[in-house]
Amino acid sequence: MSMHSSTLLLFGATGDLSRRMLLPSLYALHADGLINPDLRIFGTARSTLTDDGFRDMARAALCEFLPDDRKAEGLIDAFLQRLCYVALDASDPQGFAALADKIGDISGGLSIFLSTAPSLFEPTIKGLHNAGLSGENVRIGLEKPLGNDLASSQHINDAVNAVFPETRTFRIDHYLGKETVQNLMALRFANMLFEPLWNANAIEHVQITVSETVGLEGRAGFYDDTGALRDMVQNHMLQLLALTAMEPPASLDATAIRDEKVKVLRALRPVVEGDVVTGQYNDGAVNGEAVKGYDADLGKPSDTETFVAIKAYVDNWRWQGVPFFLRTGKRLPERRSEIVIQFKPVPHNVFKDRGGRLEANTLVIRLQPEEYVRLLVMAKEPGLDRGGVTLREVPLKPKGYGAGSWGPNAAIALTERDGVSWHE
Ligand code: BG6
Repeated sequence: MSMHSSTLLLFGATGDLSRRMLLPSLYALHADGLINPDLRIFGTARSTLTDDGFRDMARAALCEFLPDDRKAEGLIDAFLQRLCYVALDASDPQGFAALADKIGDISGGLSIFLSTAPSLFEPTIKGLHNAGLSGENVRIGLEKPLGNDLASSQHINDAVNAVFPETRTFRIDHYLGKETVQNLMALRFANMLFEPLWNANAIEHVQITVSETVGLEGRAGFYDDTGALRDMVQNHMLQLLALTAMEPPASLDATAIRDEKVKVLRALRPVVEGDVVTGQYNDGAVNGEAVKGYDADLGKPSDTETFVAIKAYVDNWRWQGVPFFLRTGKRLPERRSEIVIQFKPVPHNVFKDRGGRLEANTLVIRLQPEEYVRLLVMAKEPGLDRGGVTLREVPLKPKGYGAGSWGPNAAIALTERDGVSWHE
């Protein structure tokens, strides 16, 4: 199978995901010269739009959602020329022939990105197949929610699988694209330091937080049908949990990694009622600004959860008895995604009689807004210890320095304190 595609087809092309994320990301790839100059991008959705109408919508989305330093008129104009549009009601099988006609030749490969309501997956897959848009050189990417319970998710997966084999099906979780999430693999499996301690003997608990300050952001209908558990927990948070808890895969091969993640998911203890908390935001203030409650944002009363906290256990040898606390919510005080590994305290504090207080080690893997990995270790405060020993927790984190320079300024200060200069 060729890994190249000369045509990209976006379902849900006028929707929120497309405007906020897909079009700006495609533009950024275009601007950085990372997509084939000949790639054609077809958008489809229910709205009746001409090609030019779609390009206008895309231009407005780029203006709104691109950072200012990424906006370059000439590049935007050239990018928009790649775009075409076909109006399609995916529940009506008739429209797909016109879609296939407009797309034309797909011998150079076709990649389809499906971000639609769960009820439209099956008719869309059938429509694509009947119109000849599912052959050997067609790949399909699926955006959540793939159903809203086990039965509907199996139904959708069966419908996809009847037309696209697993090797040409891609289920998207954008958290896996985050640099620090990818770095978690390197941290765990490219260092000798952590793996021997990465278990119930040394780890007391794990916390995974994905907190957001935003509310509904114009996605009222989608969000109210979905809720935090389906929107964030079953996908992003379980991916983070699986990457944290899985055994080392034999290789970086996608199947090898997936197999290890699946073992973690299978080992998850069913969550009992007392171990899950759900909530919904009321009126309040975020970043100093008054914000309305969820019902007011939605315009009607609802019992959809916008916050979930769960105490989970992975019932295997490595993690026996170690709680994994998961927490996510909208309209929380700050935007922060992180995994915190809390190690156990040392078995005996030899500094106790000299007044030394110990904190257990903590490893913070911060995904956003900043990206870093920080290990907090105990160290002695410099100075004489006649009055007792003072210990403090310090981060071990390499300082940044410019490529081609002699390293961080702190390295210069280190020698100069003793009147010494580095030999350069
Ligand atoms: C999406 C959810 O998958 O992830 C949104 O549907 C959420 O509700 C978003 O806001 C969070 O992604 P990020 O990358 O901003 O943490």
